[in-house]
Amino acid sequence: MSSAVAMTSAGEVPPAGWLRAPEAAVLADIFAEDVQVAVWDRPSPVGQDVVALACEQRLAVKSWLEISQLEQGILRILSDEQYAAMRDDLFLLADMMACLFGVAGVGLRVTALRQPMCPRFHVDRIPVRLLCTYGGQGSQWLPATHVHSQLLLPGSDQGSLYPQAGVEQIGAGQVALFKGETWRDNPGAGVVHRSPPMSPGQQRLLVTLDI
Ligand SMILES: [Fe+2]
Repeated sequence: MSSAVAMTSAGEVPPAGWLRAPEAAVLADIFAEDVQVAVWDRPSPVGQDVVALACEQRLAVKSWLEISQLEQGILRILSDEQYAAMRDDLFLLADMMACLFGVAGVGLRVTALRQPMCPRFHVDRIPVRLLCTYGGQGSQWLPATHVHSQLLLPGSDQGSLYPQAGVEQIGAGQVALFKGETWRDNPGAGVVHRSPPMSPGQQRLLVTLDI
């Protein structure tokens, strides 16, 4: 993994199209044309006991949340008191998404995983996605400079087409925004990403928010 790059939105061009900083404000830098990934570096607000519980319960939530009824909506889908810290964080993240992108609702997915969901590198046909892995390994992406022209072709031997050292990864608790293919003026430049490889016994609790 390469070292973290932290910059502000002062107009500087990030060298590899991504930013990471300990302030939530870094997420607003996703609006910069040259930024494909913005990462808010923070510790996980959800304990590992909760992650283990969610995996044990095979927690799987898919829901549209109206921002005007956010608190009730989250409470309805995650009513167990043991998920209180996660509810608070989902409220924060969904509210941030709504403020950033000016939307009235967000699509929420919470998934407890014991095996990779999307193990091959791919791009998503969406404008932008927020991702946070509360426990376990976070999603991985390849900066554009490491994306080989053959990498995304169906059936390609991806393992031979990218440098291992070029793979970037979100840490547990960190919040990332990934631009997708349908972000305005972004065709062909969606973030190339994948689920992290997992060993037997490993667990992840992944949250995504779509607009
Ligand atoms: Fe994806």
